[in-house]
Amino acid sequence: MSSAKFPMRLDKFLAHATELSRELARRALRGKRVTVNDEVVKSASLSITIEDTVMLDDEVVEIRGPRYFMLYKPEGYVCATTDGDYPTVLDLMGFDGDDLSIAGRLDKDTTGLVLLSDDGQWVHSIISPRRECMKTYVAELDAPIDEAIVQRFSEGFTLRNEVKPTRPAMLRSLQGQQVEVSIGEGRYHQVKRMFAACGRHVEKLHRIKVGGIELDTALAPGEYRALTRAEIGDVSS
Ligand code: URA
Repeated sequence: MSSAKFPMRLDKFLAHATELSRELARRALRGKRVTVNDEVVKSASLSITIEDTVMLDDEVVEIRGPRYFMLYKPEGYVCATTDGDYPTVLDLMGFDGDDLSIAGRLDKDTTGLVLLSDDGQWVHSIISPRRECMKTYVAELDAPIDEAIVQRFSEGFTLRNEVKPTRPAMLRSLQGQQVEVSIGEGRYHQVKRMFAACGRHVEKLHRIKVGGIELDTALAPGEYRALTRAEIGDVSS
């Protein structure tokens, strides 16, 4: 669980307690939508203690449990909290300097489902190699697959410069050179390296599922939403 530490800046408090990013929280402050102890407050840096009553649009705001989000990651963003060269998924979501963790990274050019939370245990249950949380991708290859590749994936094999063989992965053809692949690990560039070892180049990679959580088809690239309670419990599926 995330632990809220007081005193806390007002914009951080609002970002913790609501679905607003810090940037949207500051906008709400500028729009005079926030009161502290019945006074309209516009200062994002105002220090809030546990004794203060904060209201947004006339509703009391309280620190609640941890946050859980799914993001449809577009190309061009890195899965990091900060990066000197490229925009991060947190920049995209407007969560600058936030304490959300990314539950399983995607490469800059990979698109699709990214889960984020400030619940450390939950994130760990997704990324811990011991938990073998399944991740499913759709990959566009430069050539079709054959039975030998499907078998290699399902048996596991040793990647270049590694010692431990890959765990069994499921691979099936969709149409043309498009395939669906499910792996229970998260090694560096794993999907691309597994295909490269089988003589195939991954031209596009898109993640559609993590554990039992599927990328919401209503989300456009760059959009995100809070996970439902059922989805939060679905990571181990
Ligand atoms: N495997 C890869 O090679 N890249 C990703 O982004 C995710 C899995």
